[in-house]
Amino acid sequence: MAELRGATAFLTGAAQGLGAAIARAYAREGLRLALVDVQADKLHRLADELRAAGADCLPLLADLSDAGETQRAVDAALAQYGAPRVLVHNAALLIQRSMLEITLADWQKETNIILQAAFILSKAVWQPMIAAGGGSIVYVSSGSGIKGFVQEVAYCPAKHGQEGLMKVLALEGEAFNIAVNTITPGAPINTPMSAANYTEEQKQAWIDPALLAPAFVYLAGLDTSSMTGQRLNAWELSRSLRPA
Ligand SMILES: NC(=O)c1ccc[n+]([C@@H]2O[C@H](COP(=O)([O-])OP(=O)(O)OC[C@H]3O[C@@H](n4cnc5c(N)ncnc54)[C@H](O)[C@@H]3O)[C@@H](O)[C@H]2O)c1
Repeated sequence: MAELRGATAFLTGAAQGLGAAIARAYAREGLRLALVDVQADKLHRLADELRAAGADCLPLLADLSDAGETQRAVDAALAQYGAPRVLVHNAALLIQRSMLEITLADWQKETNIILQAAFILSKAVWQPMIAAGGGSIVYVSSGSGIKGFVQEVAYCPAKHGQEGLMKVLALEGEAFNIAVNTITPGAPINTPMSAANYTEEQKQAWIDPALLAPAFVYLAGLDTSSMTGQRLNAWELSRSLRPA
């Protein structure tokens, strides 16, 4: 496992929810952070909080549905910090719409954030990670990455696409010590996305996303000899990492 203190994480969807929990955990581990999100106020508040606690972080405002903005954000992160030890693509948008309701523009927006951005970000860090001797790429997936759900006409195929991209890049990354994995929360989490989509019954059982952070810390230090090409469960992995 690689040393994390002083290494760098690029993290998308950092402004709230699971992403903010990962950012706080990474800052505690001493990782330098490039934090990408489309919500300016929340992103800058988080960056102020992390800096006040001593973290080195760079908030980058970008709409990840736009290829140019995505490329500019990752280029700025690379210019500031060089190759990341870990790239976590966590940003996603889920707007439940049936096939009758959804437009091509809606479909493209959700799939671009989830899948196109996964490609652009991974492509941008690939060569720098090779030059650095390796790294870890993580896509935050979902049950929708392996199953169909009604009204997820865009989210579901995009999450399936991330699973496919992970499988290919894990094979290609093996030679360069770039571990590529997906991870699903594995438990209902209390986040703004959940608040918008869960039933009242599901909200009774939701947990603080900070409880999933240990899995992401583990993934940040990963080498291909430990794990690559896997679809992981953040809740199970985090519990297995708890000290006995
Ligand atoms: N909440 C759940 O129950 C659940 C279940 C399975 C998987 N997931 C996955 O976990 C991850 C985190 O989910 P969450 O619940 O914290 O979601 P959330 O909606 O609370 O947070 C997502 C973050 O992504 C950002 N984002 C959205 N569109 C963006 C864009 N165009 N450009 C840049 N940033 C953008 C948002 O601003 C937000 O900060 C997502 O990948 C989601 O698909 C969540």
